[in-house]
Formats: sequence, structure tokens, C-alpha cells
Amino acid sequence: MSQFPARAVVDLAAIRGNVSSLAAHAPSAQVMAVVKADAYGHGLVPSARAAVAGGASWLGAAQVSEAVELRRAGIVEPRILTWLYAPGAPLREAIEADVDVTVSAAWALDEVEAAARAAGRTARVQLKVDTGLSRNGATPADLVALLPAALALQAEGVIDVVGLWSHLALADEPTHPTVRLQAQVFGEVLATVEAAGARLEVRHLANSAATLTTPAAHYDLVRPGIAVYGLSPVPQLGGPEEFGLVPAMTVEAELANVKHVHAGSGVSYAHQYVTARDTVLGLVPLGYADGVPRHASGTQDHPGGPVRVGGRTVGVAGRVCMDQVVLDLGPDAAEQAGDTVELFGTGADGGPTAEDWARAAGTISYEIVTRLGARVPRVYVDSEEGA
Ligand SMILES: Cc1ncc(COP(=O)(O)O)c(C=O)c1O
Repeated sequence: MSQFPARAVVDLAAIRGNVSSLAAHAPSAQVMAVVKADAYGHGLVPSARAAVAGGASWLGAAQVSEAVELRRAGIVEPRILTWLYAPGAPLREAIEADVDVTVSAAWALDEVEAAARAAGRTARVQLKVDTGLSRNGATPADLVALLPAALALQAEGVIDVVGLWSHLALADEPTHPTVRLQAQVFGEVLATVEAAGARLEVRHLANSAATLTTPAAHYDLVRPGIAVYGLSPVPQLGGPEEFGLVPAMTVEAELANVKHVHAGSGVSYAHQYVTARDTVLGLVPLGYADGVPRHASGTQDHPGGPVRVGGRTVGVAGRVCMDQVVLDLGPDAAEQAGDTVELFGTGADGGPTAEDWARAAGTISYEIVTRLGARVPRVYVDSEEGA
């Protein structure tokens, strides 16, 4: 084991089980496990393999380099889609690696054409339409405008237009009118694309939230990310257990110091926490450089991010620093340096979760797991194998 005094333990059985739960929520669709951003901080390749073992027949990677890395790691079976790149991206590499490439603009179609010709092989292309998020994707008008060129390249064998897709703005509010409106625009563009002669293999719109709450958005393929890792995309509607999900990541650390201090001791930078009594402080060797949000610092009035120590949970005392945080363990604490504490995990037995940290920091669980720092080792276990 690494000498670093903390780690993220990732349970591959949880990832497999989560994908299988997601597939059960969308029985008529295939599942694309989204593994962008180092699989939401869980580790790209091991997480991708677990997702495939759980039933994902597609993997989604925002960046071209992530998609190519999956193939280089020997992941050959599932289809892989990539979608976020700027002019000059290594599209030839993606095409040679048998990755489906998204086209969201006319310049991108030109670059995919050039890359496919250079590679000497047909590029599988998925068209992305912006149905109302106003982020990536071609507007419906721009998409319809680039369609003749795409279909001409298809007739020539340079590309194969295999998919049409889009992304929802408010999938986490399933009854919000934009969900229905975006689906309606998607349906209209789909009809136009198919009427123009495209023979699409997949149409897709649903992220985790829509996979779990909006069956009308499932089409042929669902594209969950956060739920693959066992976190609820709709915490206001239900926690992971409500959707058959289990958080895959547990972050734990060894206490680096434990000491008795007097009442009235200012704790950490700026002394925004002052001990109310003689007490015992514990030092956790993880800080904002490791992804512990500084916004989850604590004061007397507002406990900071929750940490499980033995059988109890205490809030971070004072400012979160770059490499460390301090806990007020209470006057009777029996902990010693080297004891393991847990920042977040499955939430079983009332322990803290990434969602709890998100609430403490005023953010979403996505940011808690994806920001976990590179120096925190990822350790893989398989709870089904007892590994
Ligand atoms: C295009 C696209 N599809 C799917 C996802 C997965 O979203 P979620 O993690 O909410 O399931 C994302 C993530 O933001 C995305 O950008």
C-alpha cells in the first residue's frame, strides 16, 4: 500500500451493481456508462471495466484522449463515444481506435472528414443537437444545414452517421417544462434527420436523472454518469438506496496527530473555530489540494464537513487547509495517531456521504468526487469477491 496517509477505496462490485440497476430502470435501452473526468474521480480504466462487466455496452468520454486511453488499455468490446474537442484535436487517432466521434458544428464535420480520409477508414459519427441547454451541440437549424454534407460523406463511405443525441438542462427536475420541450425538439430534429435518409443506430438524451425518472427520454440508449458511481442525481427526490444504487467510493485517512488542548484554543487559520472546553484535536492529512472543499470549513455555529471517527461523526473544526483539516474529537476521545477516519463512503450505518459533503460545501456530489486530488491513491476492492 502507498505511503500516502489517505486513500479512496473504490468498490468495483458497487459500480457493476449500479450499472445493472440502471439497466433495469431503462429496460428498452442500452447503457452508456459515462467515464469522463477519470470516471468521476474513481479511475478511468478500472471503473470502465467494472461498468462493462455490469452490463454497459457503451462508454462515454468527453475528451478524445480519454476515449483513446480506454482502447489503449485493451477495452475493445464496448462502443465508445467522445464529444468535446476543439479544432486540431487528434480525431484520426480516435477513428483509428474505433471510437464514435460526435459532430456538433460544420467545422467539426470537416475535421472528421479529413481525419477519416487520412486514416483510410470510415468514421462513425454521431450528430449532437442543442435542444435547449445552449452548451455543446449544433442548434437545430445548424444541424439541419450540415446534414446534406454529412449524408454526402456517408454516401461516399467517408463517414457513417450512426447516432443523434442531445443533453437535458433540467433532468434533475423531472417535471420541469424544459424536459418535455427539449424532448419535443429532439423528436422534431430526429424526424428531419431520418426523413433525409439517415439510418440511425442510436438516439439518446438521458443522463442519470432522466434514466431514473423520465422513461420517455430513454430512446435506444441512456447515458448515466453520476449514478454509475452510486450517487443520486436527484438527492431532493431520493438517496442512492431509493434507486438501487450504492456509492462506490470511500475516502479514508489516518490521523496524523492527536493532542490535548485547553479551552479557548483557536484552531486552524484565522481561528474561526475556538475550542469551547479542554478537548482533544485530531489532524486529518487531507486538504483542499486533495479536493476537500474549503467551503466545508467549520465554525462553532456551523460544523464543517462530516468525518466518521470510530462510531461517531464530527464536523471539521476551523478552516480546511491545503493539506490538512482539524477535528475536535471531544474531551474523552480515545483516538490515537494512525487511527483511520472516514470522510465519506456508502452512508451505511449512518456514516457521512459525498452528498453530505456537497451540502456542507454548498455544491453537488459530482464536484466532491471528481475533485478528489491526483495524489490521493485509488485502491480497488471487490466487495463481492471479498478482495
Ligand atoms: C453529455 C453528457 N452526457 C451524460 C452525462 C452524464 O450526466 P450525469 O452524471 O448527470 O448522469 C454528462 C455529464 O455531465 C454529459 O456531459
